[in-house]
Amino acid sequence: MRILRVLRSRSAENACEKTSFTFLRHEVPVRLANIMKEINLLPDNLLSTPSVRLVQSWYLQSLQDILEFKEKNAKDEKVTHDFTGAVIKILNRHNDVVPTMAQGLVEYKEAYGTDPTVSQNVQYFLDRFYMSRISIRMLLNQHMKVNPAHPKQIGSIDPNCPVTEVVMDAYENARSLCDRYYMNSPELQLEEFHVKEQGSPVTVVYVPSHLYHMVFELFKNAMRATMELYGDSTEYPPVRVRIALGSEDLSVKVSDRGGGVPLRKIERLFTYTYSTAPRPSMEARAAPLAGYGYGLPISRLYARYFQGDLKLYSLEGYGTDAIIYMRALSTESVERLPVYNKSAWKHYKTYHEADDWCVPSKEPKDMTTYRSS
Ligand SMILES: Nc1ncnc2c1ncn2[C@@H]1O[C@H](COP(=O)(O)OP(=O)(O)OP(=O)(O)O)[C@@H](O)[C@H]1O
Ligand SMILES: [Mg+2]
Repeated sequence: MRILRVLRSRSAENACEKTSFTFLRHEVPVRLANIMKEINLLPDNLLSTPSVRLVQSWYLQSLQDILEFKEKNAKDEKVTHDFTGAVIKILNRHNDVVPTMAQGLVEYKEAYGTDPTVSQNVQYFLDRFYMSRISIRMLLNQHMKVNPAHPKQIGSIDPNCPVTEVVMDAYENARSLCDRYYMNSPELQLEEFHVKEQGSPVTVVYVPSHLYHMVFELFKNAMRATMELYGDSTEYPPVRVRIALGSEDLSVKVSDRGGGVPLRKIERLFTYTYSTAPRPSMEARAAPLAGYGYGLPISRLYARYFQGDLKLYSLEGYGTDAIIYMRALSTESVERLPVYNKSAWKHYKTYHEADDWCVPSKEPKDMTTYRSS
């Protein structure tokens, strides 16, 4: 969205709370209303789970909170002050949207089992729902940045996001989780390539917390795969990171030697709730290293939000390369947002018929069994 570019350039130069206020009081309700329409298209049985109801009530409340400011005078300092208060409230209210929605799916599956059409629709919905959430939070955080009383920078755009610094930070935090679970962790090997200015640190116009989120998830996955494969060894192959800034792309590649994933399963890894780790217990106090199955799909959304992507390439039996692609030029990093329209509506209403390609209905047989039969 071009609007974002305007907001971003303003925030860098002469952004003021008032400008941000007039923009947000119009834009946030539009985004909230768009996604609320889509929530309503979910199957009734899913909509009626306590968790999805709770999420819906948060959205409704936040929409009402913002609409309160529709007619208010932007020049009145008390109004902009109150608006900032409302923004903080909304940010806090929506903190737990991801796990609560995930819980709603668990409740639904427990009660009604799984159905391929519902699963497809849910995957389609969650991609759009979480993307919408990323975009709304990013706008709200950007508002906090222009507010002199709350110069909170988390979640807002940094014109000089220090890529290596963020990567190292994510590595250290993933590593301490890994140490806690496995009593050890792989080392990091990092290389940087700056095509235009060899040797200078790579920076980009980006939201550091988004980059952090993506690499942190990739590190956790890479470390878990490595530690699981190497079991009780005392030495582990390092996790290798290459950061390359070209003229179009800024790419971050995280490579591990954790045994990889067969090609057949790669797309599945991006399905919400797909995980090969045991589901972390709700009572556990420490953050888990894996188990929700949200790491990859949400990270890919962060990458796509600014027109980038996240891809996984694996050599089964060896290891995995995960690549985050970001746009090197800020003019290209415009938002990618879901819109509620007839095409979206059709997605939920179309009955997905049988596949028009022949697909094996079962998992492939073990090759040894196959040969001997
Ligand atoms: N580098 C990797 N090597 C091998 N398998 C991987 C790798 N990355 C992901 N996977 C597989 O993909 C699954 C899904 O990954 P994802 O990060 O989405 O969820 P998770 O790690 O299980 O849980 P969490 O939501 O806590 O991250 C993992 O459970 C694992 O089986
Ligand atoms: Mg993970």
